[in-house]
Amino acid sequence: MIRATSQAAPGLRDYRPAEARLVADLLRGLAERPKRLSPMYLYDSRGSRLFERICEQPEYYLTRTETEIMRRCAGDLARSIGPRALLVEFGSGASLKTRLLLDRLPDLAAYVPVDISRSHLLEAARSICEAYPRLEVLPVCADFTRPFGLPRPSRPPARTVVFFPGSTLGNFDEAPAIELLELMRLIARPDGALVIGIDLVKDPAVLQRAYDDAAGVTAEFNLNVLLRLNREFGADFDPRGFRHAAVWVPEASRIEMHLESVRRQSVRLAGEAIEFAAGEPLVTEHCHKYTPAAFAALAARARWKASRSWCDDLGRFSVRYLEA
Ligand code: AVJ
Repeated sequence: MIRATSQAAPGLRDYRPAEARLVADLLRGLAERPKRLSPMYLYDSRGSRLFERICEQPEYYLTRTETEIMRRCAGDLARSIGPRALLVEFGSGASLKTRLLLDRLPDLAAYVPVDISRSHLLEAARSICEAYPRLEVLPVCADFTRPFGLPRPSRPPARTVVFFPGSTLGNFDEAPAIELLELMRLIARPDGALVIGIDLVKDPAVLQRAYDDAAGVTAEFNLNVLLRLNREFGADFDPRGFRHAAVWVPEASRIEMHLESVRRQSVRLAGEAIEFAAGEPLVTEHCHKYTPAAFAALAARARWKASRSWCDDLGRFSVRYLEA
C-alpha cells in the first residue's frame, strides 16, 4: 500500500534551530578556550556531500567496516527488532547503511530519518521512498540533541527502535553522550531498543590517517565550515588563514579535528571580533574511540541494557543492540 507520506516529496517535520539560537551558540563556543564549534555546523549541504566522499576514502575504514558488520548481522538484528517497529535514525545522512536493515524489515511501521541537513535529508528520504514504496517515511529535520516531536505513523508501531550508526556518538564528550543516550532511551520507551555503531580504540596512526586522508577530502570538509559561517552568519573567515589538523589525544581517547590559524588574525562574526593567535586551534569535532568496556559503562550510565554485539575480524568497529 502506498501512503500519502511516501510520495516523491515526503512531508517534512522541520525543527531546525532558530538563527538567533545558532548565533548565540556559535559565539559561546568561540569564547571558550580552546575555541570550539559544534560538529553540527559541519553538515550544511556541501558538508554532508563531502562527508559522503570521506566515507569512500581508503583511509576512512569506519563506514566500510560497519557496513561489512551490518551485512553479516542484519538478519540477527531484524529478528531482535521484531515485527512492526518504528525505526528512528539519528543523523541519518544519506541513509545508506539503513538499507541493510530495511531489506530485512519488510513490515516496519515507519522509518523516521532525523538529520540537521535539510536538503540532504529530503534527498535521502526521497530515494528511500523510491526503493521501498510500501514503507512510510517520516523525515525530521532537527538538532537531535534537543528533544523533538516524533511523528506518528499511520500504523501503530509494536515498539520503537533507535538506530545510531557511524560512531556519531563519538562526537559527544562523556556527559553529553550520556544525556543523548538517555534521550534515546526516552524515545524508545521501556520496551524499545537501540542499534548503535561504535568505533573502537586502535593504533593512533590508523586513526590519524582516517581523519587526514591523502586526497584532502577531510581537510576540505573541515574548512567548509568556515565558508558556511561566512555565507550564513556573515562572518569573514579567510579559509586560507586556517589549516586542517587531526590530533590524537590519548588521555581523552579521541581524535580532535582542528582548524589551526596559520597567523595572528581577527575575524568578525555577528558583530563581534574574534582574535586568533598564530597556531591557535579552533576545535570543530571530537571523535571519541571506545574500548568495549568503556562503551558498556557509558551505556549502563544511561540505563541501557547491553544485549548483543558484533565486531569485524580486526576488532576495529562494533555494532551493538541494547534494550531500554
Ligand atoms: C559522522 C561523526 C561519525 O567522527 O568519524 C569524519 C565525522 N569527521 N571525518 C566521525 C567525520 C571527519 C564522523 N562522524
